[in-house]
Amino acid sequence: MKRIITFGTYDVFHVGHLRLLTRARALGDHLTVGISTDELNVDKKGRAPVFTYGERCEILSALRVVDEVFAEHSLEAKREYVLEHRADVLVMGDDWVGRFDDLADVCEVRYLPRTPAVSTTAVIERIRD
Ligand code: CTP
Repeated sequence: MKRIITFGTYDVFHVGHLRLLTRARALGDHLTVGISTDELNVDKKGRAPVFTYGERCEILSALRVVDEVFAEHSLEAKREYVLEHRADVLVMGDDWVGRFDDLADVCEVRYLPRTPAVSTTAVIERIRD
C-alpha cells in the first residue's frame, strides 16, 4: 500500500484545495492530511483562520479522497510527521518547489501544480470587497 501525506490550512475550502487533494490521493492508496492548527496559521499567515481547526478537520475528513487527518503544530517538523505516518510520498503545492528536497532520504517528494487564480486569501478579499 502506497501512503501519501500532504499539508495545509484548507481554510474557506475551495476547488484548488479539492483538486490538489484529489491528485495527491491518485498517487497512492491512502492519503493523510496534516491540517495547520489555528495557532500555526496565525504564525505563518498572520491571521486567524475563518474556520476553526475542528471545523476544517470535519470538512476534510468528510472527503472521499482523504483517509486520515492530524494536527500540524509546526512547519519545521515535516520529517517527523512523514516518519510517524509512514508516508511513502510527500506532496506539496508547487509554490514550495525545492523546499522539501532534503526529505528525499525518507520519502519521495512531489510538487503538484496549484490551480491558478484561486486562494483562500483571494476568496476572503473578494467577499470583503
Ligand atoms: N492549493 C492549490 N491551488 C490553489 C490553492 C491551494 O493547489 N489555488 C494547494 C496548496 O498548494 C496546498 C493546499 O492547497 O498544497 C492547501 O493550501 P492552503 O495554503 O491551505 O490554501 P491557499 O488557498 O493557498 O491559502 P492562502 O490564500 O491563505 O495562502
